[in-house]
Amino acid sequence: MSTIKLIIDGQEIEVKNGTTILEAAKKINVNIPTLCHHEDLCVAGNCRVCVVEVKGRERLEASCAVPAEEGMDILTNSAKIRNARKDIVSLLVSEHNTQCTTCYRNTNCELQELAAEYNVDGNKYLSVLKEGIEIDTSSWSIEKDDSKCIHCQRCVRTCAELQHVNALTAAFKGNEMKISTFGELPFNEVVCTNCGQCVNHCPTGALTERRYFDQVWEALGDHSKHVVMNTAPSVRVALGEMLGYEVGTRVTGKMVTAMKKIGADSVLDTDFSADLTIIEEGHELLSRLRKVLLKKDTNIKLPMITSCSPGWVKFIEHMYPNHLGHLSTCKSPQQMFGALTKTYYAEKKGIDPKDIVSVAIMPCAAKKYEANRAEMNDSGYRDIDAGLTTREFGLMIKQAGLNFQNLEDSEFDSIMGESTGAGVIFGATGGVMEAALRTAYTIVTGRNVPFKNLNITAVRGTEGIRKASIKIDGCLEEWAFLEGAELNVAVAHGLKNARTIMDEVASGKSNYHFIEVMGCPGGCIGGGGQPIPTNADIRAKRIQAIYEEDMSKSIRMSHENPEIVRIYKEFLGEPLGEKSHKLLHTHYHKRNRY
Ligand code: SF4
Ligand code: SF4
Ligand code: SF4
Ligand code: FES
Repeated sequence: MSTIKLIIDGQEIEVKNGTTILEAAKKINVNIPTLCHHEDLCVAGNCRVCVVEVKGRERLEASCAVPAEEGMDILTNSAKIRNARKDIVSLLVSEHNTQCTTCYRNTNCELQELAAEYNVDGNKYLSVLKEGIEIDTSSWSIEKDDSKCIHCQRCVRTCAELQHVNALTAAFKGNEMKISTFGELPFNEVVCTNCGQCVNHCPTGALTERRYFDQVWEALGDHSKHVVMNTAPSVRVALGEMLGYEVGTRVTGKMVTAMKKIGADSVLDTDFSADLTIIEEGHELLSRLRKVLLKKDTNIKLPMITSCSPGWVKFIEHMYPNHLGHLSTCKSPQQMFGALTKTYYAEKKGIDPKDIVSVAIMPCAAKKYEANRAEMNDSGYRDIDAGLTTREFGLMIKQAGLNFQNLEDSEFDSIMGESTGAGVIFGATGGVMEAALRTAYTIVTGRNVPFKNLNITAVRGTEGIRKASIKIDGCLEEWAFLEGAELNVAVAHGLKNARTIMDEVASGKSNYHFIEVMGCPGGCIGGGGQPIPTNADIRAKRIQAIYEEDMSKSIRMSHENPEIVRIYKEFLGEPLGEKSHKLLHTHYHKRNRY
């Protein structure tokens, strides 16, 4: 690609043709403020806080929207620019509910930060904040407060471009403009998947996750309750960002200590139930392959598609209701964990399950919704009592006054606290596929997957859809029908890519046997409940940390987890057995596509 030369703040720079002024400035460490811009999304150019002066041009230019041109001479910092930015932020503040002290995004809000940087005078413009704006708390996962909205439309673009859901729109015009849902229906009545990506991309407190940490504090303070906390694989590689660590720092040991210090009676690991998911899902895949390839059973659907991402599950229920047979019947690791906490764990520990409060700390907003699905009570109780995001948990650590960086490392408790590298990689796109292949290949051949260090690099990476074929040979007698077969697999992350792969499946032309779909870009490491900001660079660092965690484990295949071996021996019986079906598997619902 050809390059161009321009000058920014007196410094000459050469950039690729098509680079925006904003991007060019970043290359020479000049930070131009933005609000409607997010690097995950297409350009909107509607807030104009990123204005710069281009010499020879009368009007200020929005640097996020204007491409750099050969010979441009640009100023990013002048009295004219500072005044313009200050005015823009002042106007936004004048129609904003600036109750920062009681706002969930206080100290992590882009509007607040800019208002402080530009020393905005809140009285310069008459407040035009509308009265009587109601907060939509209808959803288990998402809360929408229009009084905090700056109309940047990052949420609308996120939902449309990244997620292909289109649950949000900019409704009405002029002064009446607001972010709305179809027919202005409450969040819980529309096609929203609860993925939380709009929350993660919102610069202010207008969209937040529903918070349940007060409920958890209450349980922690109630000595008649036995509080079991468990954390998802991707929490340990992102939590540190809220507590003073560099992006991509693994804080597993300190995270466990923090949960113990805030009073959890037992600190367990969702990675354990990720390993369990692999055993159940791996056997389900092999069972489907046997039924389709050997018994020619036309009622069984291939490809089988993973079901551990609740945003994805709700997406397919709405968008492809006639293809639910492709979904694995396995519950997500969170829900398997909940069902076992109130049965197996309760039995082993001699605790009445009614006294157990199960708390799941997740990278995800959709898991809150999932925990509240009507069918998620197979233990006889609500399997998961509270789902918290990584952000909520980070806040609890701060509320508890813990000096996180000075905490000693500690180990998860037992039982249901032991996990393998295969469980950990669930947190990154491609991880479920890799973990499943590590185990399924061993079941079929009696050997490890033929990849160096068990690392199946073909399914790793950040490309939206990745495909691979694995030749199976040297099968054990029981699996002879698979001898010489090529297992075709695919991985998709983000609901936009999920739609692409589902269109292929729905057309009947797909030749895949197994597909992994994660609802969020990058998989759970990029989940809607992860620390803000999240962007491509941050996702890549969290993914790297996940694979480092995998390599640090002494056991890296789910079927070798001693606690998994034990639970089948002492409680579940066998994979896909009667108890597994009752506690670990589920069913799905057709939903409307409105
Ligand atoms: S959204 Fe930001 S500016 Fe608005 S009240 Fe919350 S913290 Fe303050
Ligand atoms: S809800 Fe958030 S992301 Fe959406 S327009 Fe308002 S401020 Fe922007
Ligand atoms: S939670 Fe996800 S699906 Fe729902 S509105 Fe936000 S981005 Fe769209
Ligand atoms: S950030 Fe450039 S116009 Fe909003």
